[in-house]
Amino acid sequence: MISVRSLSKRHGTRMVLENVTAEVAKGETIAIVGPSGGGKSTLLRCLNYLESFDGGEIEVAGITLRPGMGSREASTLRQLRTRVGMVFQQFNLFPHLSVLDNITLAPRVVRAKPSADAVRHARELLDRVGLGDRGASFPHELSGGQQQRVAIARALAQEPAVMLFDEPTSALDPEMRDEVMGVVKDLATGGMTMLVVTHEMQFATDIATRVWVIEGGTIAEDGPPAQVVDAPRTAVAREYFGRMKRRRV
Ligand SMILES: Nc1ncnc2c1ncn2[C@@H]1O[C@H](COP(=O)(O)OP(=O)(O)OP(=O)(O)O)[C@@H](O)[C@H]1O
Ligand SMILES: [Mg+2]
Repeated sequence: MISVRSLSKRHGTRMVLENVTAEVAKGETIAIVGPSGGGKSTLLRCLNYLESFDGGEIEVAGITLRPGMGSREASTLRQLRTRVGMVFQQFNLFPHLSVLDNITLAPRVVRAKPSADAVRHARELLDRVGLGDRGASFPHELSGGQQQRVAIARALAQEPAVMLFDEPTSALDPEMRDEVMGVVKDLATGGMTMLVVTHEMQFATDIATRVWVIEGGTIAEDGPPAQVVDAPRTAVAREYFGRMKRRRV
């Protein structure tokens, strides 16, 4: 479903991603962890082509991405955005639109979905994230956890083949984290292909099929949680997980 081949990216003279190569099969859930500044967000943003890159190639949901794609590839990039959903730390809902309008906007405008169909699908998605009764609410009337669940429903409304999450719970109070992580977990169980940047080790160990430790622009470790989290091979992973365990107690 995702194939990253020798991906490199620079910001000025700083290498932010260095020769990253990785494969993700359909239905896998990858937890991406690692120290701040390692390149986790940049990798996700390249996968959705929110940022271009300098070298290598990405194949995601049947679409091939190369450096320097622009207006000539606009329709490919539009297609990419419907196949790859992204949820950020900040929910980025449209403040002036109701929950239902937030969710139905892209399907109606980008995919020309008939309004009644879009609304029906949006209501199903709201049920799925536990907010079936909040379609008429505006974002400011919802808690952070509820807003993030709307953001997830909005991404799912495009019927993506892949979902990318960049620290979806780190702006939330602890009690709201569980409800959002519950939705992410349901998606994983339902077979969605997902990459989730998170510092929640419980999630990484319970839900992920694989864990990537990203540091210094490379994937330092890649393997099942039992291997990467419980018996890390590299110093950077040992140090990171050690710090995370101390934080939890
Ligand atoms: N627009 C930019 N201009 C210059 N440097 C950038 C830019 N965006 C990111 N960087 C640099 O790229 C590196 C990787 O950043 P990135 O945001 O991908 O890290 P991260 O692993 O997501 O970190 P965090 O855990 O703090 O979110 C950092 O050194 C950062 O300073
Ligand atoms: Mg980040």
